[in-house]
Amino acid sequence: MKHLIDPMDLTVEEIDQLIDLGSKILADKEKYQDVCKHKSLATLFFEPSTRTRLSFEAAMLELGGNVLGFSSANSSSASKGESVSDTVRTVSYYSDIIAMRHPKEGAPLVASRKIDVPLINAGDGGHYHPTQTLTDLMTIYQEKGRFHDLTIGMCGDLKFGRTVHSLIKAMSRYENVRFVMISPEELRLPEYIVKDVFEKKNISYQEVRTMEEVMPDLDILYMTRVQRERFFNEQDYIRLKDSFILDLDKLKTAKKDLCIMHPLPRVNEISTKVDDDPRACYFKQVRYGKFIRMALIMTMLGVNVDED
Ligand code: NCD
Repeated sequence: MKHLIDPMDLTVEEIDQLIDLGSKILADKEKYQDVCKHKSLATLFFEPSTRTRLSFEAAMLELGGNVLGFSSANSSSASKGESVSDTVRTVSYYSDIIAMRHPKEGAPLVASRKIDVPLINAGDGGHYHPTQTLTDLMTIYQEKGRFHDLTIGMCGDLKFGRTVHSLIKAMSRYENVRFVMISPEELRLPEYIVKDVFEKKNISYQEVRTMEEVMPDLDILYMTRVQRERFFNEQDYIRLKDSFILDLDKLKTAKKDLCIMHPLPRVNEISTKVDDDPRACYFKQVRYGKFIRMALIMTMLGVNVDED
């Protein structure tokens, strides 16, 4: 694995190995605290982020490595008109591994072709977000103990939500996973995902307009915010932004062991009253995200720790 651009760059076996390593680190952080000493990670974020960037940086620091980078296009030479490829190539001479986010779909793939160090796509426009997918997979594994025989409801902005697109691709490889798509008409899953994933692989999926009608069936409910920054028109955003709000009342018919996930940031789509419900997993998800990124950085840098 040279670069990680699309969640499908990882085989099912590689995902299992990463989750296994992430779980080992979680159980014994001290053992890994120096394994990336003298290595550096660059975080090149041409689009704002809190969790993803800081999770990468915390992951590298906790492995004993160093971090450098920028957190917005305005604070890089992009503001002088430098091409993304030139910026990334420059930074590749200062670092051992790069995590990059960009608002344009495909930008990390293009940049990765010019460099000799591994590059991780930390989100490209409405396209993919493979490390959020790894975070989601680690959460599902820790909380449900399996990837097969699950009914997953995905709710909110299924059109622009890259975490949704990535997770569908990744979960489509496991046995007997049923998908329920819950969105307003205008924010439906893009046709290319329906065709390339569901239809091509003959996977069961259902499209509905309310979460109430499917709540009792779900093992996982993956909530997402409406992606304001990808709308052409603010009026449309305002009209659609509160389409779905999960509250305790709607959870009355849900399974006792439902796992409620959200990649965060949350805007309005989950009432804060849900946070104390044992089914709320979205802050656990944040925690798992750091450990799976530690596992990913180690793996991509080829760092091994002797097993006892
Ligand atoms: C997501 C993203 O950036 O796509 N957030 C994240 O990485 N944790 C989801 C979002 O911004 O809505």
